[in-house]
Amino acid sequence: MNAERIKEHLKFLSLHRIAEIYQQEAEQAAKAKRSYQEYLFRLLEEQVINKTERSINRRMQIAAFPDIKTLEAFDFSYQPQINEKLIRELANLDFLNERKNVLFIGPPGVGKTHLAIAIGVKACQKRKRVLFYSAEKLAEELAAAQVSGLLNKKLDMLLRIDLLIIDELGYLSLSNNNAKLFFQLISKRYEKGSVIVTSNKPFEQWGEIFNDEVVAAAVLDRLLHHSYPFFINGKSFRLKNIENINP
Ligand SMILES: Nc1ncnc2c1ncn2[C@@H]1O[C@H](COP(=O)(O)OP(=O)(O)OP(=O)(O)O)[C@@H](O)[C@H]1O
Ligand SMILES: [Mg+2]
Repeated sequence: MNAERIKEHLKFLSLHRIAEIYQQEAEQAAKAKRSYQEYLFRLLEEQVINKTERSINRRMQIAAFPDIKTLEAFDFSYQPQINEKLIRELANLDFLNERKNVLFIGPPGVGKTHLAIAIGVKACQKRKRVLFYSAEKLAEELAAAQVSGLLNKKLDMLLRIDLLIIDELGYLSLSNNNAKLFFQLISKRYEKGSVIVTSNKPFEQWGEIFNDEVVAAAVLDRLLHHSYPFFINGKSFRLKNIENINP
């Protein structure tokens, strides 16, 4: 049998994982007296696992998380006000099908970004299209698209994403123009696709973020209508090991 030809065929068919393992698997199958069918099944199973992993990795890269955080690594006992059961339910991702939003509101270091990424990672694992943005970068990109006459194209692209994560809304206030662009985006995605927003500012102060009470109220109205808001007022995890700082 011509091993080189087999490898060529497998590569041509993009069955790279099978190309890697088929010889070794064949030897093992002979030793263990496995049937031809069992041998073929094991090869295909490996190829499918490999393809799934690559697809998840690709989705994670596209999502552009600043860091990889997981739900498993989140210490719920440190932040007891967070409804752990609800977070775990959200990780099942039904909220994406229901086009609902998730909001994490609270001071620095309480795990807002961590939880947003962790849910985003789960979504990638379920082969959903996810994008992570800081509010600032998102506003910049929308403004750049507007200048080049590509705003609608950009908004359409963002509408096709299953889960849009907007982090750190409120650390910087938006210019009037950027606030309006932001409103357009939220308005377009309203009831069409889920958004996770993290913010250090309570809702009463969102007028400061948007420099406009009316725009802020309109954004909030749409985000909150079908949503799971989490208000986290616990201690900063960043300062966990520093004594006398946390209240
Ligand atoms: N309960 C927790 N269990 C484990 N790690 C945590 C927990 N809370 C926060 N962290 C970790 O602490 C760091 C800060 O958390 P995170 O970035 O999520 O804070 P944040 O609420 O987004 O704060 P900021 O408003 O400053 O952006 C991260 O490294 C995060 O992984
Ligand atoms: Mg954060």
